[in-house]
Amino acid sequence: MRLDEAKTDSYRRQARLKGYRSRAAFKLIQIDGQYHILAQGMNVLDIGCYPGGWLQVASQKVGPNGLVVGVDLREVSPLGDNVRIFRGDVTDRNFTEEMLEADDKVDLVLSDLSPNVSGIWELDHARQIDMTLNVLQLLPLLLKDGGTALVKVFEGDLLKSVWNRAKIDFESLKYVKPKASRAKSSELYLLCRNFLTR
Ligand SMILES: C[S@@+](CC[C@H](N)C(=O)[O-])C[C@H]1O[C@@H](n2cnc3c(N)ncnc32)[C@H](O)[C@@H]1O
Repeated sequence: MRLDEAKTDSYRRQARLKGYRSRAAFKLIQIDGQYHILAQGMNVLDIGCYPGGWLQVASQKVGPNGLVVGVDLREVSPLGDNVRIFRGDVTDRNFTEEMLEADDKVDLVLSDLSPNVSGIWELDHARQIDMTLNVLQLLPLLLKDGGTALVKVFEGDLLKSVWNRAKIDFESLKYVKPKASRAKSSELYLLCRNFLTR
């Protein structure tokens, strides 16, 4: 087993031991440990939240005075009182309108969206970037002034389009790659801070 695979496996084991639904939980724990994006009392939207590792981490961090809203195509088992879950397609305008009616703007948008990976790298990259651009376009409806977004991106030729889109709306941008993300995986996260509403 390669070193990075052995480490990933250890995250899976740790997730099981600590009761997290996915090893992805450690990616958010590590990013938050370094950049402090989660805090007590915040309202958070988690897009592409199944099975719920990020929901668990965010729910613990925002505490009883905060709220975490999760969205996924798949059914997500319920979590604590401060977590609300919607099942639907975030690229479907009818669904997002319904979701927007139900909730106020949030302090933090998380997107860990990933398409069903086909193994055809160019196709997976293009589909993932397309869904991420979709999320960035929705942000004026979802995110408070001064808010933060953390969005997953697959590396490749189209990555720059995400950076260029985010640059329009945020004061600062940074790519982050937590240790819990496999070194050989093309996944990265774009951390976007200080959303500027116009
Ligand atoms: C990597 S998983 C998320 C893992 C999650 N962050 C966790 O901690 O458990 C990516 C998710 O994106 C969801 N997804 C993909 N396309 C979607 C769409 N159009 N609308 C909503 N969810 C979508 C998938 O169903 C999948 O559950």
